[in-house]
Amino acid sequence: MNLVKHMAIIMDGNGRWGLKHKNSRNLGHREGLKTVEMVMRYCIKKKIKFLTLYAFSTENWKRPLKERNYLFNLLEIYLKEKLERINHERIKIKILGEKNFSKGLNKLLDFAEKKTMKNTKLQINLALNYGSKKEIVYAFNKLKKKSRISEYDINNSLYTKNIPDPEILIRTGNTQRLSNFLLWQAAYTEIFFEKKLWPDFKNEDLNKIMKKFSNTKRNFGNV
Ligand code: IPE
Ligand code: IPE
Ligand code: MG
Repeated sequence: MNLVKHMAIIMDGNGRWGLKHKNSRNLGHREGLKTVEMVMRYCIKKKIKFLTLYAFSTENWKRPLKERNYLFNLLEIYLKEKLERINHERIKIKILGEKNFSKGLNKLLDFAEKKTMKNTKLQINLALNYGSKKEIVYAFNKLKKKSRISEYDINNSLYTKNIPDPEILIRTGNTQRLSNFLLWQAAYTEIFFEKKLWPDFKNEDLNKIMKKFSNTKRNFGNV
């Protein structure tokens, strides 16, 4: 049976859900938080040690200011409200991406990382202002003085240093692309594209994916 240490998720479809149910993309983002909570509980229950959530891409800066601000506010309010509980549950928060938001949010993200640094129950990697290409460029720049670069060096220079590659990558929202997410790390990841929009994604959908994953023959090039 295949074990899952690291699950990565492209949480897509909030905007469409919001428009359909509440006539507002932003209310879809708010609804999506409930699914985030569900997935966190799921990972703890299943003893999955790393959960990476794609929350804001380097490309998402193209979105209207009103939507960006709504997303950043949502995150700020969520962390202010829940950080104590997150820490109490021994969850570690790690940000993947450059923190270039408002001063207040940057500080809060630093604080959340520091406060939860020693926790070992579950590590949540929040991909925020994350772009895989940007991450790879960052790694190359860190390594440019070396005369020979190995895979090991690159692994250790990415934002995901010390994080194992994900066994499972899920994208909700009925779109089949990676949108600049974990291009290096997902070289041998099992990918699940889900039709459901993120706020509609439920515990039973995760169960189905886990079952399918555990029945998958992972060859890694072998036969
Ligand atoms: C959430 O889904 C992804 C974020 C950037 C937070 P979207 O906002 O992309 O939703 P759709 O794809 O427009 O429905
Ligand atoms: C990917 O979703 C980014 C996040 C989930 C944060 P997008 O909705 O931004 O992706 P594209 O633009 O449709 O590829
Ligand atoms: Mg989308």
